[in-house]
Amino acid sequence: MKIRAAVLEEFAKPLIVREVELSEPGPGEVLVRLVACGVCHTDLYTASGVDPSGYAPTVLGHEGAGVVERCGEGVSLVREGDHVVTLFSPQCGECVHCLSPLTNLCLAIREQQNQGYLPDGTTRLALDGEPLRHFMGTSTFAQYTVMPQIALARIDPEAPLDRACLFACGLSTGLGAAMKTAQVRAGSTCVVFGAGMVGLGAVAGCRLQGAERIVCVDLAPERLVLARGQGATDVISGGPEAVEQILEMTGGFGADYTFEATGNVAVMRQAVESARMGWGLCTVCGVAGRGETLDVVPRLLITGRRICGSSFGGLKGREDVPELVNRYMAGEIDVDPFISHRLSLDEVNVGFELMQAQDGIRSVIEFA
Ligand code: CU
Ligand code: ZN
Repeated sequence: MKIRAAVLEEFAKPLIVREVELSEPGPGEVLVRLVACGVCHTDLYTASGVDPSGYAPTVLGHEGAGVVERCGEGVSLVREGDHVVTLFSPQCGECVHCLSPLTNLCLAIREQQNQGYLPDGTTRLALDGEPLRHFMGTSTFAQYTVMPQIALARIDPEAPLDRACLFACGLSTGLGAAMKTAQVRAGSTCVVFGAGMVGLGAVAGCRLQGAERIVCVDLAPERLVLARGQGATDVISGGPEAVEQILEMTGGFGADYTFEATGNVAVMRQAVESARMGWGLCTVCGVAGRGETLDVVPRLLITGRRICGSSFGGLKGREDVPELVNRYMAGEIDVDPFISHRLSLDEVNVGFELMQAQDGIRSVIEFA
């Protein structure tokens, strides 16, 4: 079928919204009609050409929500008409990582997905008769996409899809970092560096876990206002003095849990230094640039601080994303303040411009 999609034809050039060919879902694959899709930094990062693992041409987009239109042979996990959130981090349920409660990094389709192919090593997308690679296994800047069934989370059909799409990446990443990776304990003190989509999600996650004190650090006063709305009890303007301020606020010890959601290695270091002696856990969510390293004084570790990383909030997507959507539907997560702009597919490049101008938290593309 012919669909409209936003194609990254050349790095560092605007996306081109044009007609591409999408073939029928193969065995284990599903045709999804997209209803909404968030515009995320990872899309922009790839479009910029800075990401060493990026490729073009491809159809970008990975924060999608939509409706199952058709199922390929042998599909058993979803049905026509199901409402789904797309998962760039799938859950096959069978690999050694899926069987372990210790990680969410499913191994089933990693290699093919990283290279832009569906699990069988081919593409369902074509551009002018040439195969066109998928992006993050999702390619959701499009009216329709074909994805493996293990990469779709079935959600409550009552959940509005223009909000549910945020659970496909940034929001879940932040919520999960606090709830799943760090498993914040009730009554604890938390510090979140960065009040973008992931950081704000982490603030909300700390609140849901019953944290007593949640300090949010960011450079932008508008974002700190949003952080308060998500449950931050204190806010600090970012900068070299942030660590000292946090130590002062915590009787000189530091916080039980710290979260880094900026991708800046200097801030990661601050997040480690702000963690409490004895048991403070620093969770790194941000993606650093190529070749960058995290500089930490080892004595901080010997004296009981710990550092861990979190990918997609440690969430096993098919199981945990529907749960988070349920908590949103129960009124426990306030999603609306994150949506700063609504765009049509043709305006996708505006979404990138807004992000570069740091205007708002999320632009959501709505498909007509
Ligand atoms: Cu993303
Ligand atoms: Zn797996």
